[in-house]
Amino acid sequence: MKTKGYKNSGFSYAGAIIFFVTIALLMQIAILVYDYIRERTDNNVLIAILILIVIIILSGVCTLIDYLRRRATVEKPVERILFATERIASGDFDTRIEIANTYDKYNGYDLISENLNIMAAELSRSEILKNDFVSNVSHELKTPIAVISGYADALRDQTLPPEEREKIAEALSRAAKRLSALVSNILKLTKLENQETRPELERFNLTSMLGEVILGYESVIENKGLALECDLDDVYITSSPSLLELVFHNLISNAIKFTDKGTVSISLKRTDDRVSVQISDTGCGMSRDVGMKIFEKFYQGDTSHAGEGNGLGLALVRRVIDILGGEITVSSELSRGSTFTVTIEDAQ
Ligand SMILES: Nc1ncnc2c1ncn2[C@@H]1O[C@H](COP(=O)(O)OP(=O)(O)OP(=O)(O)O)[C@@H](O)[C@H]1O
Ligand SMILES: [Mg+2]
Repeated sequence: MKTKGYKNSGFSYAGAIIFFVTIALLMQIAILVYDYIRERTDNNVLIAILILIVIIILSGVCTLIDYLRRRATVEKPVERILFATERIASGDFDTRIEIANTYDKYNGYDLISENLNIMAAELSRSEILKNDFVSNVSHELKTPIAVISGYADALRDQTLPPEEREKIAEALSRAAKRLSALVSNILKLTKLENQETRPELERFNLTSMLGEVILGYESVIENKGLALECDLDDVYITSSPSLLELVFHNLISNAIKFTDKGTVSISLKRTDDRVSVQISDTGCGMSRDVGMKIFEKFYQGDTSHAGEGNGLGLALVRRVIDILGGEITVSSELSRGSTFTVTIEDAQ
């Protein structure tokens, strides 16, 4: 099988011709030497011994030429690859193999080297991602754990008035909830990232499902004094209800969290085989720079709300949309509000 960029397996026409001409020359020399000896003596034993010596010398020369050729075309590249793979195997993912030929003259060794370089770069990238992930998780775990440990110490004080105790219990509960949300989001994200195939799909009433999600936030919306506007078409869809629920929970909770006054509006529309859900708010909005990063894991643009979450919500949303083959767009203006539009196909 020929792969991309593969030209030959180390075979060079020039090398083969040089090898052929050398062997022919050596044979010619052997014949000339034989004639030369034959002209000078009739002693067959002496002739045989001299010819044997000449053959041994010429065979030695042939072996040396072959060794040098193999050294240059086979052993050197194999040594280079072996050295690099040993370094990569020992964890040095920055190792790269120098490629001897230009791309248009790639042989098998060059192609193997290039593929190994790509693999090393990929390993190095996932190593960085893994380390970033671990340090982000540790960082996010530290804050609530510090809160829990501080308040647990404070509770030891027997003279604490009941209302202070109540406040501390409230703070402890918030920190524990934050920890629990973090762990649950990490588990969800890991599961979704390992999910290669499309999830189990079923036909369901998207309007009822969205309505139930909204209902779950009714008291928070009321407590914050926000207005809620809903414009929902009656839509049935074939998709994954659990994954879509995750998307709407995250987008609606963000709209409420980042809006201090005004309105949260939710609309659901069907056009042909596509369904679009729009969640708008009149909240703090975001700058263009922030908007570019909001789907990254652990990214939180608005520091005043950093305590209320871990920056995993939109990373989860993006992953779900990718799995379902949909699209998500954001338009936002600082201090004016944001609109998130999710478009999903009806896989009926
Ligand atoms: N409706 C919105 N209005 C303004 N900014 C938003 C909105 N939605 C998301 N953002 C910005 O995007 C960032 C990432 O959002 P994401 O949902 O991933 O994290 P989070 O809400 O801070 O935490 P989590 O979702 O883990 O509870 C937010 O921190 C915020 O800066
Ligand atoms: Mg969120």
